[in-house]
Amino acid sequence: MQISVIAAEPWVVPTDVLVVPITADEPSDQILAELDRRLGGPLAGYRRVGELTGTPWQTALVPGAGIGASWTLAIGVGSEADFERWTAVRIGGAAERRLCGVSVARLAVYVPSGLTGTGKVDPASFVELVVRGVVEGMADPAAIYRDAPDGQPPQIEELTIVVAAGDIAALTKAAERGRIIGEGANLARRLSQRSSNDISPTVLADEAQKIAAEHGLTATIIGPEKATELGMGMFMAVGRGSDNPPQFIALRSGAEGSTDSRGRLLAMVGKGVTFDSGGISIKPADHMEEMKMDKTGACTVLAAIATVARLAPGLPLLAVAPAVENMPGPHSARPGDVVRALNGKVVEVNNTDAEGRLILGDALTWAEQQGATHLVDVATLTGAVERAFGKLITGGFGTPQAWWDEVAAAGARQGERYWQIPFVDEYRAEMDSWYADFRNSASPDGSLVKSGMFLREFVTRPWAHLDIAGTAYLTKNTPWGARGATGVSLATLVELALAGA
Ligand code: BES
Ligand code: MN
Ligand code: ZN
Repeated sequence: MQISVIAAEPWVVPTDVLVVPITADEPSDQILAELDRRLGGPLAGYRRVGELTGTPWQTALVPGAGIGASWTLAIGVGSEADFERWTAVRIGGAAERRLCGVSVARLAVYVPSGLTGTGKVDPASFVELVVRGVVEGMADPAAIYRDAPDGQPPQIEELTIVVAAGDIAALTKAAERGRIIGEGANLARRLSQRSSNDISPTVLADEAQKIAAEHGLTATIIGPEKATELGMGMFMAVGRGSDNPPQFIALRSGAEGSTDSRGRLLAMVGKGVTFDSGGISIKPADHMEEMKMDKTGACTVLAAIATVARLAPGLPLLAVAPAVENMPGPHSARPGDVVRALNGKVVEVNNTDAEGRLILGDALTWAEQQGATHLVDVATLTGAVERAFGKLITGGFGTPQAWWDEVAAAGARQGERYWQIPFVDEYRAEMDSWYADFRNSASPDGSLVKSGMFLREFVTRPWAHLDIAGTAYLTKNTPWGARGATGVSLATLVELALAGA
């Protein structure tokens, strides 16, 4: 896809579809008013009768008679004052969703000055986020196993971002960044969306090797014998139950021992459960098929390091993706099993369905052993986080506070929403075990808090945990996004890592 940013009047741009964001406020953008006049006044007319008033994700497709575009696609984006970065991302997604099944090769997006003048979203960010939204919108998980399902989003060949004025070189760079981050999110989504008969831990390790070869990264793959020898007792407790052997996957960029411009080595750790049946503590059948998505964290960190390699080649960075299939069977861990973690702590596995924290605990320890100074993990860890925050907000933990703030700020810049959950030290006693230092699951009250507190036992450095169980995939189409893997947190991780470039 060819992307360009131009300073022009939107009506002169030759394109198939010109996207114009419509705000809920009385229109103040003189250029938009002039565009509407040249079209014969349909937008003002629609507003008058209540057909298109700027309510988010209302759309109208207007024939472009008399202007450069064949069609104008007006999309409601809410009020200027409420305009957020995630709204900017969704403009791109909403355009692609609205045009599903329509043949469009050239798309242009007009950037109204009002939306970049509020202080919340600067012009370069707007351009970056809209381009990312278009790129993500072009990929529909429904197409993964089919050549040409009906109603697919159009594959844009020429994308033009139209601004009234501005530093075109800087905006073009922002557009390019948006494209690369969008492509990274799509890589994460494509991996995450693959079904469990297609992607075992070994296949995920192969995919990681391919990513390493393509981007000049160093891959380390630790199989079950070596993992046992190293003392990854929690990782193996989960991994040994399946015929598909566990694989502990790590990708590294930068020379060994090197740190980034701030003297850090960031490790991004992702939960890679290629299928979560629950193990011996087996899950109910309803919705069990969604547990193919339980590897999303791993897919996200692998795609994130690939993306950073494109934007800042050689930047020291670590991606760690412990991959297992959580299955019941003659070799599975049983409730009540006691294992020794890589950091030496003794853990009772009283629920084999609380497996994510087991593999992540060992992965966090391993990352620190590799020299990580700062850690962030991404995991579809708990159903509780989805009940608490739904599909649009990722719940998370962090310590010290300054590190959580940095992670959340990186997310905010990329239009991703996080909410911090507290540690409650008084709950720690409920995780006590008679036979071990603590157990992997305790009473359900405060279980979300306890999930973070379990992981905290395995870190000694600044660390944040992002629980994407709610946000990793949509269970239905929305006006701005397709059902399936969302790529959530990829942009946050990339932004966070690039702070050390
Ligand atoms: N992979 C699940 C969490 C999950 C639930 C992800 C729904 C996506 C959607 C995780 O391994 C799990 O089973 N968590 C348990 C923890 C409990 C046993 C302490 C849960 O949330 O019920
Ligand atoms: Mn589970
Ligand atoms: Zn799980």
